[in-house]
Amino acid sequence: MRITDTSDLWWKTAVVYCLDVETFLDDNGDGVGDFAGLARRIDYLADLGITCLWLMPFYPSPDRDDGYDVTDFYGVDPRLGTHGDFVEVMRTARDRGIRVIVDLVVNHTSDRHPWFLEARTSVDNPYRDYYVWSKTKPKNDAPTVFPGEESSMWELDEKTGEYFLHSFYRHQPDVNIANPKVRNEIAKAIGFWLQMGVSGFRVDAVPFLIEAPKDTEIGDPHEFLRDIRRFLQRRSSEAVLLGEVNLPYRQQFDYFGGAAGSELTMQFDFIGMQSLYLSLARRDPTALIRALRQRPEIAPESQWANFVRNHDELTLDKLTEKQRNEVFEAFAPDESQRIYGRGITRRVPPMLEGDPRRIRMVYSLLFSLPGTPVLFYGEEIGMGENADIPGRSSVRTPMQWDATPTGGFSSARSSRLVAQPPGDGYAPEHVNVVAQRDDPDSLLQHVQRLIARYRASAEIGWGEFEVLEHDQKAVLAHSMRSDLGRFVALHNFAERPMNVQLRLDDEAEDANLVDLLGPERMPLDGGHVSVELGAYGYRWFRVSRPGDGRLG
Ligand code: NOJ
Repeated sequence: MRITDTSDLWWKTAVVYCLDVETFLDDNGDGVGDFAGLARRIDYLADLGITCLWLMPFYPSPDRDDGYDVTDFYGVDPRLGTHGDFVEVMRTARDRGIRVIVDLVVNHTSDRHPWFLEARTSVDNPYRDYYVWSKTKPKNDAPTVFPGEESSMWELDEKTGEYFLHSFYRHQPDVNIANPKVRNEIAKAIGFWLQMGVSGFRVDAVPFLIEAPKDTEIGDPHEFLRDIRRFLQRRSSEAVLLGEVNLPYRQQFDYFGGAAGSELTMQFDFIGMQSLYLSLARRDPTALIRALRQRPEIAPESQWANFVRNHDELTLDKLTEKQRNEVFEAFAPDESQRIYGRGITRRVPPMLEGDPRRIRMVYSLLFSLPGTPVLFYGEEIGMGENADIPGRSSVRTPMQWDATPTGGFSSARSSRLVAQPPGDGYAPEHVNVVAQRDDPDSLLQHVQRLIARYRASAEIGWGEFEVLEHDQKAVLAHSMRSDLGRFVALHNFAERPMNVQLRLDDEAEDANLVDLLGPERMPLDGGHVSVELGAYGYRWFRVSRPGDGRLG
């Protein structure tokens, strides 16, 4: 073993799968998904090939923001099960080689959290300083991140006559991280879940979390993030912090802790995701290439998390207005499919008008772009949204296991389900796991193959990204190079089939391109090779050199 061997950095080559226990599988027939149901589906996830489960908030909550409004950082929502059921899931997942990370939502609590109930009883209550108060409504007030739903970040507390800060809904008061007691509470919650066996956290709303309350001196806010990271790593060397930071790359670099990599381990690439949609709308990869080239160079232990859909609105906030409108027109032509003036409430397949070639190309990109892919449950079978459910919840419908009206999610009457599945072409009757499991041409099996190939190509997570030269504007050709070898992928953003004259000048005379998704093996004739691509086609290759000892 080399001292520098970094193969234990599991997150560099992980496949992360995000789900909400509430909508995955209902075991006790009450219409709400639960941990006992999830335990029964760990084998499905193992079969799919995922290596890390990200559980959305499952803590006790009045559920006014889908669990992102927590009343007990240590608990399990009784609707979903008990700590015992949680441990069963952890044990089963570990047995199948799957790690679990959980949402850490500590920028705010629910207004029904015992701390807040105490805090609002009087200005001198010991919990008062757990939150951020102002005697008057601050002048620099602004709408929250939910324009149209919350017009102010400050809410008057009638009893004490002061205003409290809420970056999100008014029922989610921001905690005061300038208070050392609050910082200790956060560390304790982290320590608790690590002890329960989790391998890290998806950290909610990081920029809001570390922001200093107005007129408060906390020094460098990043010091707090470094403290959390140090604490985490003392308790568990393998644990990760996957941060939600929707900011320009320059600032994201700081949230990684710069070149030192001393803060967040991973961050979602919101810029790359938005550029991908612009490229899809234009049928031209230039915007995506530009974003990938602009990514700052991060420490080898840090990582980008790629995604094409998550549980929130598909935000386009970092595009210019003109670009955003291009994407809106292409993928959300109806005003009702948009939200907050910046996002889309649809899932990927309906946005792409159900075109299987395009949908597959998008997932091929997800698994081959530099970074770690993150799937949102149901993407692997091409689930659609339920347009009748308003707002962000349209994409949070029950997982569709079989063709029955409730999608095999629950034995409860349809009217009792936590959310209704979509109808029409995306109803469980047409989109479900059982039907796709036995169909070799299904999206499910396609994603399974991509995952298997991705897992066998550590270069994708580790390697050096390079855009390759060729003659077709509509094609992104890239390679990922590491001491393990070189992975090459081509993606055709256009509807017309084409031949790409690819140049890999620096490869040896006797090297071959080995097709990773098919049987072909092509000699690299002096570094030149002609690759055929179908409409919205894609190809994955490995550069194979005689004697490199790889299977293909
Ligand atoms: C980000 C989460 O992804 C979103 O769903 C939630 O509403 C806010 N943070 C507030 O916690």
